[in-house]
Amino acid sequence: MVHSILTSGSTYWPFKKYFEIYNRSIKDPEGFWSEEARKLEWFKTWDKVLDWNPPYANWFVGGELNASYLCVDRHVKTWRRSKVAIYWEGEPGDTRVLSYSTLYREVNKFASVLLNLGIKKGDRVALYLPMIPELPIAMLACARIGATHTVIFSGFSAQALADRVNDTGARLLVTADAGFRRGKPLALKRIADEALEMAPSVEKMLVVRRANIPVSMKPGRDAWLHEMMEKASLFVNPDPMDSSHPLYILYTSGTTGKPKGIVHGTGGYLTFNHSAYRWVFDIKEESIYWCTADVGWVTGHSSIVYAPLMHGAAIVLYEGAPDYPGIDRWWDIIEEYGVTIFYTSPTAIRMLMRFGEEPIEKHDLSSLELLGSVGEPINPEAWTWYYKHIGKEKCPVVDTWWQTETGGIMISPAPAIECPPLKPGSATFPLPGILADVVDEKGETMPPEERGLLVIKAPWPGMFLGVYGDPKRYVESYWSKFPGIYYTGDYAIRDKDGYYWILGRADEVLKIAGHRIGTAEIEDAVVAHPAVAEAGVVSIPDPVKGEAIVIFAILKEGCSPSPDLKAELKALIRKSIGPVASPEEIHFVSKLPKTRSGKIMRRILKAVATSASIGDLTTLEDESSVEEVKKIYEELKKEV
Ligand code: PRX
Repeated sequence: MVHSILTSGSTYWPFKKYFEIYNRSIKDPEGFWSEEARKLEWFKTWDKVLDWNPPYANWFVGGELNASYLCVDRHVKTWRRSKVAIYWEGEPGDTRVLSYSTLYREVNKFASVLLNLGIKKGDRVALYLPMIPELPIAMLACARIGATHTVIFSGFSAQALADRVNDTGARLLVTADAGFRRGKPLALKRIADEALEMAPSVEKMLVVRRANIPVSMKPGRDAWLHEMMEKASLFVNPDPMDSSHPLYILYTSGTTGKPKGIVHGTGGYLTFNHSAYRWVFDIKEESIYWCTADVGWVTGHSSIVYAPLMHGAAIVLYEGAPDYPGIDRWWDIIEEYGVTIFYTSPTAIRMLMRFGEEPIEKHDLSSLELLGSVGEPINPEAWTWYYKHIGKEKCPVVDTWWQTETGGIMISPAPAIECPPLKPGSATFPLPGILADVVDEKGETMPPEERGLLVIKAPWPGMFLGVYGDPKRYVESYWSKFPGIYYTGDYAIRDKDGYYWILGRADEVLKIAGHRIGTAEIEDAVVAHPAVAEAGVVSIPDPVKGEAIVIFAILKEGCSPSPDLKAELKALIRKSIGPVASPEEIHFVSKLPKTRSGKIMRRILKAVATSASIGDLTTLEDESSVEEVKKIYEELKKEV
């Protein structure tokens, strides 16, 4: 694949084809996107491409289609019926290979099970499953009958699961007896049982037998999937869905304690992902594509399930940990299946980098043609290691910037159009149809090389429809800072060649090993402990995870700090959020720095946590005086 690396000193040249397509897409977005949408198969063509009533967009108004039809039925009508859809590998080493016709059959049967359980179009179905084929099958089965799925990451605790289930009012929960993680079964059914004690909307629980561990089944509520599948019909009609029908709800963190249910529709979402995926990954009939993300995140929804399967791609799905039983497990999988496109996260790359090149050299990775990165900023060192040692300097690295809300990839090299000369650590340019900009607090475009806020100035088909059950939050979080313009919450720089560099979050959201967690969520979990009066959470840089969590907590009168209390707080966080939110450090302090209006001054906490100076105090965005802030900083430093 033609690509080059642009290092300082080499000359930048405009790459013509990309700019031609990009400029056309911006000049005539409706013409452009209707051409893209025609690449899918619609049951009914739209009457209007876009109804834009800021900040609400309605794409392909009046059009009807079905996501499950596009991912399976369309292929079984062709030679692809015998093509591999999913190469699945379980952590213990067991494997399953599903052709498109097997996938089609399983999706139909699963949809029939849903109907037999009384699930109808418009119902919400919660999926709490390990990385096994039943997860994409369940998603496609829901889509087939118009039930909106909500996948909850299997690393979440019972409380986090219950919170999400309650927010959606799901009637059915699908789980498994367990999934494997680092050699041990993670007992999901048991966690689900605990969650359902707190989630009254759920009437039925469907259980996949994965690990063969004993579980208790509640009569009248719980059913085994394999038993239900025996009674299922082999065909369920893929119901035509309106373009704006909610395909799924996916929870993500924001700046308040309560996670947001991001709602994605059907027509716009699928059109956007179908195109973005092709542009970025240059998917070919013979490609073997592996994205290591969990299906529980948006990357899994768009870049494991919907986009690849719409393209009839052969995908690899792996259940377990990257370093189990050995540090070369991933390289072994690449070799075993002849993976051509590999898509992973900077945290994983940094973690694997620490083990040097020896585990890689044991494997033949020559099948690889393209590498991708997603979820957090990739430092040039990790990018270069990935390029050199995994891609052997022959595979372009696509650094893809996007968000749960954007639905699909927004800023990234697009090798299928024309690969820009790459710069290690830069996501390069916006994809066609994406009007990105870097602006100051007033919304004015920043000059090159200066840090600003990343915004998107025109609607795009993959944009989310809203925040489930909270229309106010949709407007306030994303569209009120710059009316009519989408605020991403990220800092970015555009360099003198026009390349985008994403620098991380500008708000109170953390990215821990690529997982998005709100500081307020962790603070809420900590103050739930009877000994804690107040808490403030910040992050410190971490060489592998990108960021790590540091907690400052004030204890209630009569409570004293102790290692046991720290352990209790850590356990509490694991219980209410999950292991991803485990803190690196906990400091017990006598007070927290606050503005006069009561907002925690995180900059001070951060400076104390990182042992840095508090920097330029003249830019302080609160009402406290410089002297006051300095004093608080010095006092706090003495305490930790
Ligand atoms: O801060 C950006 C970071 O991840 C955030 C979105 O997180 P989430 O909704 O969980 O989706 C992640 C997977 C699409 C963004 O606001 N982020 C994502 N991709 C990149 C990135 N930061 C830098 N470079 C990226 N390629």
